[in-house]
Amino acid sequence: MSLNELETYRDAALEALEAVDSGEALEAWYRSHLAPSGQATAWKKQIGRQAAEDRRAFGQTVNAVSQALQAAFAAQKERIRLVELADRMKAEAMDVTLPGRPRPQRGLHPVTAMLREVCEVFEGMGFTVFESPHVELDETNFQLLNIPEHHPAREMQDTFYVNVPDQGERPPKAVMRTHTSPGQIRAMRAFGPGPIRVVLPGRCYRNEDITPRSEIQFHQVEGLLIGERVRMSDLKGALLLFARRVFGEDQAVRLRGSYFPFTEPSVEVDIQCTLCCGEGCRLCKSTGWLELLGAGVVHPNVLRNGGYDPDKVRGFAFGLGIERLVMLRYGISDIRHFAENDVRFLAQFA
Ligand code: FA5
Repeated sequence: MSLNELETYRDAALEALEAVDSGEALEAWYRSHLAPSGQATAWKKQIGRQAAEDRRAFGQTVNAVSQALQAAFAAQKERIRLVELADRMKAEAMDVTLPGRPRPQRGLHPVTAMLREVCEVFEGMGFTVFESPHVELDETNFQLLNIPEHHPAREMQDTFYVNVPDQGERPPKAVMRTHTSPGQIRAMRAFGPGPIRVVLPGRCYRNEDITPRSEIQFHQVEGLLIGERVRMSDLKGALLLFARRVFGEDQAVRLRGSYFPFTEPSVEVDIQCTLCCGEGCRLCKSTGWLELLGAGVVHPNVLRNGGYDPDKVRGFAFGLGIERLVMLRYGISDIRHFAENDVRFLAQFA
């Protein structure tokens, strides 16, 4: 085996490697030359068989050839890797100029968001949430709240009556609740005779003409607090804190004498107009004030109907309209937007 032959082999192998242009061809080349069964390895096995005087020079040449092939193989492998990567990037290229698809905006309905916010504010004052039925008995919706049948106060709340199937006896008179106040009786009966601090959020129904300020379905949050030494000033403090949390620290609030059959004394609570800050404008009908809610000290008859002794405990209650609260906060001029389900309106609150 001459050294010449070795060099000829090396040149041929390098030439063949040069021509390799794919991963598979490279692997085949490796098997023929550098693998344990390859030609370069075969040369190495021949070293021992050389005559003693040739062995050193032969061994050195074989090793040099083998190293040259290894180095060339590594370089070619890297080159092919880069070429294949470039090909793949070209084949799998993504057209990043395609405009993105807009994701629809999602969010809570402004009325739901406000219901939750109001409940959270009162939960911060130690109130818990209590829910009561939408279809009520006439008794709970009116009579136990000190509004007997044929009482003129019924005129304040136009009512949807519900047919109850006749089961032989005279069926109870049922109504879609006109306010959340019947929940006061239910809460008293559920928690009595202990102290109570609850808020009752939910939908109410009135058989009214639909106008920019009135709907036939709307939401209220009722509040009820009962304890031994509850006073009007507690009511004022709680409502003032509430108004400031919802409308800001500088929000002015006023209590105005009013009438509800189930509270005595009764008040309406107004906030200073959020649009004109009390100057007088169209929203507040030039009065500088906006009506927020009705409230008062729970009437002794109502306490009695709920199972409490009016000589031992007192309570305050309030009922607040949620749609009107949202309208005041965002300057919305028509209550009908809330139920129209127009995405252009709703998306503004997302
Ligand atoms: C009541 O419903 C009393 N139950 C409130 C109350 C509770 C007083 C506890 C005292 C103690 P009123 O009818 O004023 O009161 O309604 C309260 C609020 O509900 C109103 O201020 C208003 O914000 C809202 N509201 C009433 N009717 C409608 C309606 N048709 N559409 C939208 N909101 C309404």
